[in-house]
Amino acid sequence: MLNKRNFLKSLLLLGTIPFTTKAKNILDEIPEEIKNKKPDDFWLQIRNDYILKPDYINLENGYFSMMAQPVLEKYMADVRMINTEASYYMRTVQFEKKQKVSDRLAEMLGCAGDELIITRNTTESLDTVISGIDWKAGDEAIMAEQDYGSMLDMFKQQSKRYGLVQKIISIPFHPKSDEEIIALYENAITPKTRLIMICHIINITGQILPIKKVCDMAHKKGVAVMVDGAHAVAHIDFKISDLNCDYYGSSLHKWLGTPMGAGILYVRKDKIKTHWPIYAEYGFEETDIRKLNHTGTNPVPVDIAIHHAIDYHQKIGVKRKEERLRFLQNYWTSKAKNIKHVFINTPEEAGRSCAIANVGVEGIKPADLAKLLFDKYKIWTVAIDSANVHGVRITPHVYTTTDELDIFLKALESISK
Ligand SMILES: Cc1ncc(COP(=O)(O)O)c(C=O)c1O
Repeated sequence: MLNKRNFLKSLLLLGTIPFTTKAKNILDEIPEEIKNKKPDDFWLQIRNDYILKPDYINLENGYFSMMAQPVLEKYMADVRMINTEASYYMRTVQFEKKQKVSDRLAEMLGCAGDELIITRNTTESLDTVISGIDWKAGDEAIMAEQDYGSMLDMFKQQSKRYGLVQKIISIPFHPKSDEEIIALYENAITPKTRLIMICHIINITGQILPIKKVCDMAHKKGVAVMVDGAHAVAHIDFKISDLNCDYYGSSLHKWLGTPMGAGILYVRKDKIKTHWPIYAEYGFEETDIRKLNHTGTNPVPVDIAIHHAIDYHQKIGVKRKEERLRFLQNYWTSKAKNIKHVFINTPEEAGRSCAIANVGVEGIKPADLAKLLFDKYKIWTVAIDSANVHGVRITPHVYTTTDELDIFLKALESISK
């Protein structure tokens, strides 16, 4: 396993970097000639910022991303500081610090500071939206069978409780055009439709959906759109303001690499007033988004660690990260699709997918494929066998190397035989 010390030693032996002592944050110390020489040198330096388990190749980075070591170290320092300051921290600067992070996130994601709050995760964000609408019996909401189970369940609860009608469509793996997707949502709209839920990136296949076009179409028909952006923030380059959506929820512990338990909720200004919070909060005006953000006492070091994760993310740069992740996915899918009996459940077109893709082998159940990959080839993935998707989800990250993907490809070749 290439650890930090060995990696530095190897670079020193090669004469690639000048001798330095006390190397703390390698990212800060990447010499320009390395950064600009070969992209792989840069990404090897990034890899060196992560402590990876040597027992297996991790191609299941869609659940959550581990923190890079520079982020983890600063987070641990915050945990210690807040543990020492205790209620003094909570009673003096807690909310001011949280607001600063929230404002920085709003700037990064291209929305107004008073339209965004920090939540614990996408589930909390989207369930706040779904449960906060005053549903009347017969109201309709459109969603896809490939949407995330917890949100589908939350809509189911509104059906049982208020008589909401769930209209469930199915997204094709390989759409011919954006229009094909838009038509699916449009055809499901009736005069009773109040909300569309749509994934920015479908978690089980990695497909990126044409959010802005769906929002534009829906708004023409008076329907609001809630976007499940669990996988999009810090994965692909976009601004919420460009999407024209009404609600947007994401988890920052997925691609931004924060500690677990950080997310965002965006609510368009004009939607805030009539929205019911899950936890009552009358300390703010009805039009103030903070009324949706009453959390009780919660792990506040996570809030401020978001700063450290943004710092790290911005040093890489979202465009460079998106390109790298797409490169890694294309690297293996472009080869895997030519292996006999292997099929890819993710669209090929550049704008329709990025890091995540799903692959299956004819005649092998997803769970068996995932087990075989792990037991025999030491490759960690996750089986997906629902919503018409049958395969294993492969999610490389910034620390994944093409060597690791070559090992995965060899495993696929052997298995398919
Ligand atoms: C599409 C999608 N939505 C929502 C979630 C829920 O995210 P969290 O568990 O961080 O709330 C996930 C988690 O994987 C997801 O993939």
